[in-house]
Amino acid sequence: MFYNLKESLEKPALYTKSKEAFWDDEYISKQMLKAHLDPDVSGASRKLSFIEQSVSWIKEKIPAQTYPELLDIGCGPGIYAEKIALENYQVTGVDFSKRSIDYAKKSAQQHGLANTYYYQDYLAMDLKQSFDLATLIYCDYGALSTKDRQTLLHNIYQHLKQGGKLLLDVFSQKFYQQFQEEQKWENCENGGF
Ligand SMILES: C[S@@+](CC[C@H](N)C(=O)[O-])C[C@H]1O[C@@H](n2cnc3c(N)ncnc32)[C@H](O)[C@@H]1O
Repeated sequence: MFYNLKESLEKPALYTKSKEAFWDDEYISKQMLKAHLDPDVSGASRKLSFIEQSVSWIKEKIPAQTYPELLDIGCGPGIYAEKIALENYQVTGVDFSKRSIDYAKKSAQQHGLANTYYYQDYLAMDLKQSFDLATLIYCDYGALSTKDRQTLLHNIYQHLKQGGKLLLDVFSQKFYQQFQEEQKWENCENGGF
């Protein structure tokens, strides 16, 4: 595919959506899955040690005994979903990457887990089921426009039981203040990400 270099370097207005598929793009989704599955890289999922600490935190603060049915929104290939299921939650995951959902389904089957996964856009999700707890992990919320945030929160609300909880994982103020924007160039002989 030919890209206009000058156009590609222009900074888009905040929250401008790509006209092309991103999460479902053949090349991007393949590299994304690779990044998800690397326990030492915090590109697509966080590093494994952090994920394990997070799952311990979730089971302590929002226990499965009180919140058994959990919906993981933007679940990727089910890295969190599987660890959460091992803590006795009944887990349903939703993601808009077909490759990740296919991987998650296969992996759950291989590990004997009863996780359910749906290939759906969380901005239009309709699962006809309600949950005790919803999670949105790894800062997706911050990438959404104000309008999309409203849509997503409305959709989540529609999928929660009365008294249900939403666990929203966002970057902290401190992280934001220390964040430096940059543009980098690399020559990737074998294809990069
Ligand atoms: C940063 S990754 C985090 C994945 C997972 N929560 C984790 O931490 O391992 C964001 C995920 O959200 C999914 N996603 C992005 N936009 C989505 C949408 N509109 N509907 C459903 N999933 C979406 C992507 O496919 C990707 O798997």
